[in-house]
Amino acid sequence: MAKNSNLGAAKAAKNDEFYTQYADIQKEVNAYLEYNPDTFRDKTVLLPCDDPEWSNFTRFFAQNFERLGLKRLISTSYAVESKKYKNYQPTLFETSSAWYDVDKTRIKGKIFELTRDTNGNGRIDLDDLEWHYLEGDGDFRSKEVCELLNQSDVVVTNPPFSLFIPFFQWVIASGKSFLIIANKNCVTYKEVFPYIKNNKVWSGRTEWAGGMWFETKNNNDVDKIINGLPMKNVPSIWLTNMEHGRRHEQLKLMTMSDNLRYSKHLDLRKYGYIKYDNYDAIDVPYFDVIPSDYDGIMGIPSTFLDKYCPEQFEIIGIGTGNSAKELGIKKNYRGRSDLSFTHPETGKPSCPYSRILIRKKQ
Ligand SMILES: C[S@@+](CC[C@H](N)C(=O)[O-])C[C@H]1O[C@@H](n2cnc3c(N)ncnc32)[C@H](O)[C@@H]1O
Repeated sequence: MAKNSNLGAAKAAKNDEFYTQYADIQKEVNAYLEYNPDTFRDKTVLLPCDDPEWSNFTRFFAQNFERLGLKRLISTSYAVESKKYKNYQPTLFETSSAWYDVDKTRIKGKIFELTRDTNGNGRIDLDDLEWHYLEGDGDFRSKEVCELLNQSDVVVTNPPFSLFIPFFQWVIASGKSFLIIANKNCVTYKEVFPYIKNNKVWSGRTEWAGGMWFETKNNNDVDKIINGLPMKNVPSIWLTNMEHGRRHEQLKLMTMSDNLRYSKHLDLRKYGYIKYDNYDAIDVPYFDVIPSDYDGIMGIPSTFLDKYCPEQFEIIGIGTGNSAKELGIKKNYRGRSDLSFTHPETGKPSCPYSRILIRKKQ
């Protein structure tokens, strides 16, 4: 492997060990409950890719088992020896358990399950979790975790960054409902974008601005200490195929002429809506200057998907790569089918960053 890709793989492996904050899970899940209090009722929820002893996903769903009306909660973890980035101490929870096995602790995955009040205190919660070692290492693609997937209705997790695409394909192929954390850029991946374009997958409830803060186990890569914990900010979003309502809220937009006169974006007021050189569409550099009265195709930063309402806009494609070729975007000054325009001030051609193409619905 070349040195650069070694470094890339090492970085991705470290990013695999980011832990989601309880408040972020609570905020996102609560939005689905506000929309439909029965979202999780009588459902089996699977939390794959979890380290249940540390994970706030397990904690949140176990503590809220009764409020959500869950039928069964299953949480599985990945064996430390299989992880690329190893940083592990068995917890007291495990070592003090009758099931603790010194030969298995590093090489086997674990399954935690919650279905009933095991300690007879009259409620079902975290203290009722039952666990054992899995046969294998807990890889989400293993036969036994796939079997658990078959038994589940909803999959919720923050999957390993380095395996996002296989994970996405795994959950999509299952046809199950899901709520997962992903990198912002993933919406333009060829494996993901078609589902977004066809309104099969969409942004979660939490808005994209500001990224998300995760607890990191890698002390050499910390952005901030929050409440004594080493935290890292990652440009992450929630992706889902579950209804939460926000995506049906239409953007309130101004007309083209009002934007050109009153927009807070000086560059728009100065240069107007620039036309692409190699495709019949205008460039709209910010979601809040989408003109309400323009019927043609518009290129807009992919972060627009945070605001996308399928009743207001249709998604045409992506202005780069194979999607651009399929749309008939002509070769540009770089000999590629990526969208490009000539800057009105410099007269130089350039390609805008990460545009998707949309059109107002009539
Ligand atoms: C980004 S972390 C998230 C952990 C937890 N879901 C959370 O958000 O707090 C991803 C977890 O998946 C684990 N993992 C890595 N590869 C995996 C695989 N092939 N199958 C299952 N889990 C895996 C990592 O070790 C890590 O614990």
